[in-house]
Amino acid sequence: MALLSVTVPRVSQVVVASIVVLGIYAVALAIYRLFFHPLAKYPGRLQYKLSSWPLVYQAYTGDRHIWHLKDHEKYGPVVRIAPNTLSFNTASALHTIYGARNANVKKAGFYKTVDVAAGAYSSFTETDREKHAAKRRWMGPVFSADSVKQNEAAIVDVVEQFCETLRPGGTETGTGQWGPKWNASELTTYLGFDIMGSLIFGHDFQSVQRSEHRDLADSILPTFRFLNWVSHLPMAVLIRPFMRTRLFEMAGGKPVADNNRLIDYASREVEARIANTDSSEKEATAGRLDFLSRLVQLEDKRTGWRPTPADLNTECLNMMNAGADPYSGVIAGAIFYLVHNADVLQKATAEVRATFSSTSDIHNGPALNSCTYLYACIEETLRRTAPVPSHLPRAVLAGGLSIDGHDVPARTEVGVSTYALHHEARYFEDPWVFKPERWIESAANPPERIAHARKAFAPFQLGSRQCSGKHLAYLQLKLTLAHVLWRFELRVAPGEMGRGAGGKGLGVGRERVDEFQLWDAFGFARDGPMVEVRDAHY
Ligand SMILES: *[C@@H]1O[C@H](CO)[C@@H](O)[C@H](O)[C@H]1NC(C)=O
Repeated sequence: MALLSVTVPRVSQVVVASIVVLGIYAVALAIYRLFFHPLAKYPGRLQYKLSSWPLVYQAYTGDRHIWHLKDHEKYGPVVRIAPNTLSFNTASALHTIYGARNANVKKAGFYKTVDVAAGAYSSFTETDREKHAAKRRWMGPVFSADSVKQNEAAIVDVVEQFCETLRPGGTETGTGQWGPKWNASELTTYLGFDIMGSLIFGHDFQSVQRSEHRDLADSILPTFRFLNWVSHLPMAVLIRPFMRTRLFEMAGGKPVADNNRLIDYASREVEARIANTDSSEKEATAGRLDFLSRLVQLEDKRTGWRPTPADLNTECLNMMNAGADPYSGVIAGAIFYLVHNADVLQKATAEVRATFSSTSDIHNGPALNSCTYLYACIEETLRRTAPVPSHLPRAVLAGGLSIDGHDVPARTEVGVSTYALHHEARYFEDPWVFKPERWIESAANPPERIAHARKAFAPFQLGSRQCSGKHLAYLQLKLTLAHVLWRFELRVAPGEMGRGAGGKGLGVGRERVDEFQLWDAFGFARDGPMVEVRDAHY
């Protein structure tokens, strides 16, 4: 009894004191953030000014891009979206933050969490500017025109196999019948994975055709959905050491475990190439060197930097992640907008069929480049369905940065959301209409207007951080669509109208029934459309 009467008050006193101290701290922090913080003068929702948890939640639900857009609609071109973060929505801010080579920013800490799982930072996630530059130089030859030319046949091969798989009945000659319906988001995920597998590792995964490797392809997006919000956690730095442990696999579930198998696969391939270059020599004499075989042999010409196995491993995974899923998402988006816009589909198809007399003529070159309408469809899809719809955060360095006349202090995170900017009426008239014509010069659409729009168009980012695989991505998109449109008529499967589109009940900002929905995950998750094809030539 005596013992209790002594200890109980003590424990409760400690608890009460802690609550009081924490309470005072929270109130003081709130007052500071609202009134005395360097960003206090910028508009934004109250909850954003107080805490970065709303941003974590938006990342968790995949709605970050939607909120970026809504916030700019409500507050104008600059919004404080977290205590320490500003979002901008102008072409000039886009160029100041991402375009200028010497912009006084670096990639924010977010990147450090995203691919540290593989054991090193890649040319994409490396936040140190010098190291990043060396890696970009080292990687350069992989995406050179010469390399792309060598690898075109591999892309076409995978695309043709994909088309063969779609063929109704899978017969030699077409039947004129509509084939079974397929989920464009799903099958193109495997298509993208197979193309990148072939380009990077020289390995034909055949996940479009066979189910054995699908779990590897399936792991990429869910893993990014998970990493995407985890990386936004205020204490993400504490999580990094656990990223390749059992604990993390348990938290992330099957996708993370599957993704770790992909990491292991890449690391075995890297070891095999380092141990034995025979196979790559064989390939080289056959006129084709996969990306990994090239990378093993390269060094940075300026600094002499050579990659460690961990660097090679990370880079392969980075190319896999950056090359497969965004392409897949954009192709799914293109198919969505084509089957939902009959006149666009008709025009693009007519152009491709008038340009090529058979699929074997479809190559990178003047004929493909003359397909201006097809190219405009790709641009318009990239506008509506930007591969990275939300902020790629940048941290302002010492000395600050002037953005649109605002003196932004050091350590502030800044960003522009491509989804928000690409739907801004100041740059794109009728932003919610899918209109390839906006990219084509005509009497009604003079070059100045196109140039004005292009300033606010950055599906692959800009400047020194621009996606290295941009030209390769365009080639893949053109080849894929040209092949599919040449061979097939396409339609939404009966009864499946609306799959992948917005609608009531999908939440704020997802009401448009003619918009392909994206769930932000660094790249984005998506659904449908459910489509059918039939042979156009039989
Ligand atoms: C279509 O595929 C996507 C991506 O794999 C998936 O999330 C979605 O549930 C699928 N939809 C249907 C109707 O099967």
